[in-house]
Amino acid sequence: MAEKATNIHPIFDGMLQRSDKENLLNQKSLCLWMTGLSGSGKSTIAKGVEQKLHELGYLVQILDGDNIRTGINSNLGFSEEDRIENIRRIAEVTKLFINCGVITINSFVSPTKDIRDLAAEIIGKTDFFEVYINASFEECEKRDVKGLYKKARAGEIKNFTGLDAPFEAPENAALEILTAGQSIEASVATVVDFVLQKIELKK
Ligand code: ADX
Repeated sequence: MAEKATNIHPIFDGMLQRSDKENLLNQKSLCLWMTGLSGSGKSTIAKGVEQKLHELGYLVQILDGDNIRTGINSNLGFSEEDRIENIRRIAEVTKLFINCGVITINSFVSPTKDIRDLAAEIIGKTDFFEVYINASFEECEKRDVKGLYKKARAGEIKNFTGLDAPFEAPENAALEILTAGQSIEASVATVVDFVLQKIELKK
């Protein structure tokens, strides 16, 4: 790692405020933070929620684990240290979007309470809404959409969440979605209902 920069003087004076952007977009920005096992349905639900909110006239940005890990975080793996750095950068990026008035839907395994607390801390607790996409390990393994569970079982993937790396289910999520036995549409509708009242700009 290069040496940390010193003599940095951030400027915020004279910049437009978040409220200016929110007013322009006619929405209140926030972050819906989806956590859950790989294959639990986070990305699918995120896409459905984005689509619905877009149709209703809201500006939304999805931030998704696999996408971010091919771009800004392509140098990171799945050690505990790298997962922390992954989430730290994502949280900083999320903050930029929120300050720009945009609603973000984040779908990251974000497997531990500490990691999610770090995200909430950076983003700001009042703008951070934790959504637990709850599907059991057995269910996700049965679905195995990306074939990762099979590979992990075969020892081809190390530090796989739920197998040889921990997943701590959130205890106080703002919303919990049980995806087993529920249609995608129903899950999406529940999240949309949850978020609509929070993003409406009250004038
Ligand atoms: S996090 O733990 O750092 O929050 P993130 O959401 O960015 O994870 O990435 C998870 C995605 O990476 C999974 O959906 C899966 O497709 C892929 N992946 C590859 N290796 C692993 C692994 N060892 N553990 C979990 N997910 C993995």
